[in-house]
Amino acid sequence: MIVIDQILSKSEVETFTHRLAQCPWQDGKQTAMGMAGSVKNNQQADASHADTQALANQLLGRIGETPRLVSAALPHKIFPPVFNQYGVSEEYGYHVDAAIMRLPRSNEVLRSDVSMTVFLNEPDEYQGGELVIATEFGEQKVKLGAGQAVVYPSSSLHKVTAVTEGKRIAAITWMQSMVPDVSLRQTLFQLDTSIQNLIAKQQTDREELDRLHNVYHNLIRQFSQL
Ligand code: NI
Repeated sequence: MIVIDQILSKSEVETFTHRLAQCPWQDGKQTAMGMAGSVKNNQQADASHADTQALANQLLGRIGETPRLVSAALPHKIFPPVFNQYGVSEEYGYHVDAAIMRLPRSNEVLRSDVSMTVFLNEPDEYQGGELVIATEFGEQKVKLGAGQAVVYPSSSLHKVTAVTEGKRIAAITWMQSMVPDVSLRQTLFQLDTSIQNLIAKQQTDREELDRLHNVYHNLIRQFSQL
């Protein structure tokens, strides 16, 4: 589970929420697949609406421009972000995200390896509405600031607890990773993070850094599935 500090700036978040408020919203059950429908109780911005699509595309572009996120997820395909909101007493019970998703307006499918939630309003604007992810170390509760994102394996059970006051607004997306194996992906992320830290410190021999970089890219070459 990785937190991305600022995928959108505070002013971008404001623009997003302002424009989202003018988009048509639908019952979230319409897009829930399989068993998830019975526990899903939220609203979703109409993904067929031009304004919703424009915002989704803007966020999609930002994903590719966020190096830490790219390093963590190693995305091969990304589902266009979906915007949802939870009003008072709305929640999404424990569920797993569908393993295979059809990309909208396309015949292409995507295997969900990595899920991402981007929080679009501040945690003090609502009570409840925590993203809870079941991990081998127990339940992890996540409630981040506006513009921050959390990335977690799509294979994990997760839920959004009921909002008891205010409104929770977020964007979610799913990525097919070039490296489907979660532990290998995590190791590659740790290696890349160390290399980036060494580069930033400017104390390491350039040739040694090049060799490390070479190792990293050769591992990607060896294990990526495209
Ligand atoms: Ni989900």
